[in-house]
Amino acid sequence: MTAVTHVRAELRADALGLGTSTPRLSWHLDDAAAPEVAQARAVGAAGEQVADLASATGVLVDWPFAPLGSREAVDVSIRVSSHGEWSDWSAPLVVEAGLLDATDWTEPLVVPSAAAPHELRPSHLLRAEFDLPEVPVRARLYATAQGVFTAALNGDPVSDEHLAPGWTSYTHRLRYRVHDVTALLREGPNALAVELADGWFRGRIGFDGGLWDVYGEHVGTLLQLEVADASGATRIVPLGDAWRSLPGPAVRVGLYEGETYDARLVPFGWDVAGFDDSSWSRPEARAASSVTARLEAAIGEPVRPIEALAPVTVERRPNGRIRLDFGQNISGLLRIAVDAPVGHTVRLHHAEVLENDELGTRPLRLAISVDSYTSAGDGPVTWMPRFTIHGFRYAELEGWPGELSDGDVEAVAIHTDMERRGWFECSDPMLNRLHENTVWSMRDNFVDLPTDCPQRDERMGWTGDIQVFAPAAEFLYGADGVLTSWLKDVAAEQEPDGWVPNFVPWVECGFPRSASAAWGDAAAIVPWTMYERRGDLGVLAAQYASMKAWVDHLELRVGPDDVVEGSMELGDWLDPAAPPEDPGLARTDKYLVASSYVVKSARIVADVAALLDEAEDEARYRALADRVVTAIRARWFSDLAGIADAPTALALGLEFGLVEDAAVRERLGDLLSEAVRAGGHHVQTGFVGTPIICDALASSGHLDDAYGLLLQQECPSWLYPVSMGATTIWERWDSMLPDGSINPGDMTSFNHYALGGVVDFLHRVVAGLAPVAPGYREVEIRPRPGGGLTSASARHLSPFGLIGVAWTLDGDAFVLDVVVPDGVTASVVLPDGATHSAHAGTHHYTATIEGGAALAETQEDAR
Ligand code: BGC
Repeated sequence: MTAVTHVRAELRADALGLGTSTPRLSWHLDDAAAPEVAQARAVGAAGEQVADLASATGVLVDWPFAPLGSREAVDVSIRVSSHGEWSDWSAPLVVEAGLLDATDWTEPLVVPSAAAPHELRPSHLLRAEFDLPEVPVRARLYATAQGVFTAALNGDPVSDEHLAPGWTSYTHRLRYRVHDVTALLREGPNALAVELADGWFRGRIGFDGGLWDVYGEHVGTLLQLEVADASGATRIVPLGDAWRSLPGPAVRVGLYEGETYDARLVPFGWDVAGFDDSSWSRPEARAASSVTARLEAAIGEPVRPIEALAPVTVERRPNGRIRLDFGQNISGLLRIAVDAPVGHTVRLHHAEVLENDELGTRPLRLAISVDSYTSAGDGPVTWMPRFTIHGFRYAELEGWPGELSDGDVEAVAIHTDMERRGWFECSDPMLNRLHENTVWSMRDNFVDLPTDCPQRDERMGWTGDIQVFAPAAEFLYGADGVLTSWLKDVAAEQEPDGWVPNFVPWVECGFPRSASAAWGDAAAIVPWTMYERRGDLGVLAAQYASMKAWVDHLELRVGPDDVVEGSMELGDWLDPAAPPEDPGLARTDKYLVASSYVVKSARIVADVAALLDEAEDEARYRALADRVVTAIRARWFSDLAGIADAPTALALGLEFGLVEDAAVRERLGDLLSEAVRAGGHHVQTGFVGTPIICDALASSGHLDDAYGLLLQQECPSWLYPVSMGATTIWERWDSMLPDGSINPGDMTSFNHYALGGVVDFLHRVVAGLAPVAPGYREVEIRPRPGGGLTSASARHLSPFGLIGVAWTLDGDAFVLDVVVPDGVTASVVLPDGATHSAHAGTHHYTATIEGGAALAETQEDAR
């Protein structure tokens, strides 16, 4: 009998506190049932209801019941029927709305701080005691802050979230989360205890010296505790007058700089009821309405500790420090178990790499990344900083008391707790490590929003980086929550003329305000990619105005010759031919890049207009794309000699559909192959060319050259960092030079996901698992063996369930195994050209590849 599993509301398995009254429902089936109808059952205060669902696809199906009110909760189960036979009801998912209306917030914003000088500031302790006449049947804490905070009830943390409430464009949006705190409350006196620090709201963020107090000169918390009794009646526990505050034990805190913590300053028992806080101050209570940003329920999963790593080496240094290598570059913190005399301080230093046998901290710039713990002398204590985060693989402990024992120090990876959705493996260990490095760089840079890097004084939501990485991200993880939230900020920060900042949230720290192609285009391309990969039409509808406004902005940049000219452009950023100090100076004309992106984004918006039945818009954006593509052809593709040595230009011609004529396309492919060969199969592309060059080669009949690039190990190449021991994707092709020294450029990170976007090629082409219709409803399974690989496999948890592809090549014998879930149709193309159509189920294919043995032997040549 079919079972319905994986029930989600707005793609969340934890659907507590949703920001919508009509959450869409999704589910999977455990077999190939192909149901015709589906029903949902909701059990709530109003009793039980059953409703037919608008579709049985299991992908983001419309809410079939009356809209939920604020706080309303129902248990939702799903069942499906095929051929008149109903499955059992699925296990119920608790679906609960958050506070949907601004007027639902009646508790105050509690502000313990006034303006402070531009230097690292202390945290604040805040506490409020309250009495409950009985243990509540249900209790919720709606919680957010201007700053970053932790909260506990009666001494127990309300969640393990890190850096809550995360970073949004606080002028427009402030997210809150809902915590089920029923089990933490008791009859009689209770205490709510909070620690609050600057985070992104206040303090210094940004590069080139950064900017202080971007969103305000104070910090504050907004916490609303609601309890329900057995009758179901809910009331807000008024805490307004009960709040008291004191400067906290984190005496100096900065997101980039680290946390300096003095355990002697923690008042004993401050977080439980009965503590005497009469000497504490009364913080200012401002009306919740003083928060002018929209209060929104968090969309995705929280940032939390995900994995703890033990050191792989421990070394006592001549200067007395203890150096630890955790074997993996992460975004996170050290957790220490320490027993030191009162007043003793341990300092924790972090770095991504070593240089000259010292911590290589220069690339961190102003993010000194040092935490320190001063002991209260009260026995062994486990401590991890709360209000900062670092990017590191190595750490040094300064002042460690005595010997270090196993388990005393762990590196804790901290990032958004996304569901893993994609896997890849092949017979080449170096490619596997490249893939693994990309997975780590994604994890390390999905810390609430998609950032460029997790370590230096930057960590911004650079639009270009996620624009090129989005397809890989959507394959590897359930990135929906992070990206949906971030796109709302993109729209919020867009100006009336459609300008999209080069990073979002935007901080005025000196970077040119003007838009740049490939960066601002994230506004159109990221939602489109989400639609392609998740089948989520909702994200297109939500972003449509923003997508259009961006392309309208692009139109303003198109000059009298119908191409973009004269604008500030980042171009094919980090082409290895560009000098370290001028990463935009690429082989490919930046205005070809800019004009090509006008075509790409305008076509996307035209396609979206068609999906949303906006015929006039469709015609308008199609016409813009046609006008610019005609001009591009005349300027750059009529005489190909001008771009023959610019692989990114040639790849754009092929992959952005700039050239249609078959003969010209063939010539482009040949020129690209020649250029790649002339470059000795070293990478010659930057941000723009890198994600498309292998596709351009493979689709124009030069698969060998794509493999040649992929398997190259000399610098610059994808595998060069792997050969240097990298555990994440580097920002520059040569972030570390072959002699082991750090690239002299001022901008050198060892953890940028952008250039790892190539893994999407590994998934789609090497393993052969490519989406054709939105949400993988149709897929093409067409493995392209080469490069000496003898096997490759990819698995993806699609909206319909797990799709699997695994092939092996043994001599001439090619064997392919495929798993297709219900709802997905696969067209299978074998290397010998045979095609098959596959539906739900498992499938086994064999083919004989002439020269297959040769394919498997060319590995050494390709290197
Ligand atoms: C960032 C990049 C970004 C670039 C563009 C850098 O500082 O780290 O990833 O896209 O600037 O200017």
